[in-house]
Amino acid sequence: MVEIAPSILAADFAHLGRDVKAVERAGVSMIHVDVMDGHFVPNITIGPPVVRSLRKATDLLLDCHLMIENPDLYIPQFAVSGARMISVHQEACPHLDRTIQLIKDNGAAAGVVLNPATPVHTLSTILGAVDFVLVMSVNPGFGGQKFIDYALEKIRELDRMRRERRFSYRIEIDGGVSEDNVGEIASAGCDIIVAGSSIFGRDDPAAAVAGLLRKVEEQAFLRA
Ligand code: DX5
Ligand code: ZN
Repeated sequence: MVEIAPSILAADFAHLGRDVKAVERAGVSMIHVDVMDGHFVPNITIGPPVVRSLRKATDLLLDCHLMIENPDLYIPQFAVSGARMISVHQEACPHLDRTIQLIKDNGAAAGVVLNPATPVHTLSTILGAVDFVLVMSVNPGFGGQKFIDYALEKIRELDRMRRERRFSYRIEIDGGVSEDNVGEIASAGCDIIVAGSSIFGRDDPAAAVAGLLRKVEEQAFLRA
């Protein structure tokens, strides 16, 4: 089943609880939380205290996307604060196997993220150990950017590889998702679709989620 994960990066940080409730009503099961450190990416967002507050404000699963250097230093804090999915960038982790293990040891699902220019084959040896792979379809750091089309081929490749090698990781995409491309993304084999500005940039975030899910269903119907 394809899921939509609203990214709070595009929400109103002064009213996070209210904005999260709005997408809860749309029936989503998770919230995507973008953590940026001003080093790995040229932007700064939030840390464990905000995750802790979100945990109190909602029962939705918190998917923390760490766009930070030295994630090993902070993974335990994010897990204890309530992150149930934690992903780290391949490009930021020289000891990726150890980092993935650390996430699991802290009780969260472990994901690895690929920047647009990083090829899928760089993950070939770790794929059996991860719970999910996140494919960036924009260069990380900011919301509201244009979808990079070649990310679709990376989704197809990851989908092919998990069938051939009988892996069970889920595939997530992040960046530039809209009603115009969400159907194609789902049919490429994606399971979790992150969307920020196309949800929280709208007057009615719940209606925006419903609109994205409708496009996913239409595409599935066309393929059947
Ligand atoms: C970008 C973040 C994304 C961002 C997506 O670095 O990782 O999660 O919120 O925003 P949109 O959907 O607006 O491209
Ligand atoms: Zn993200």
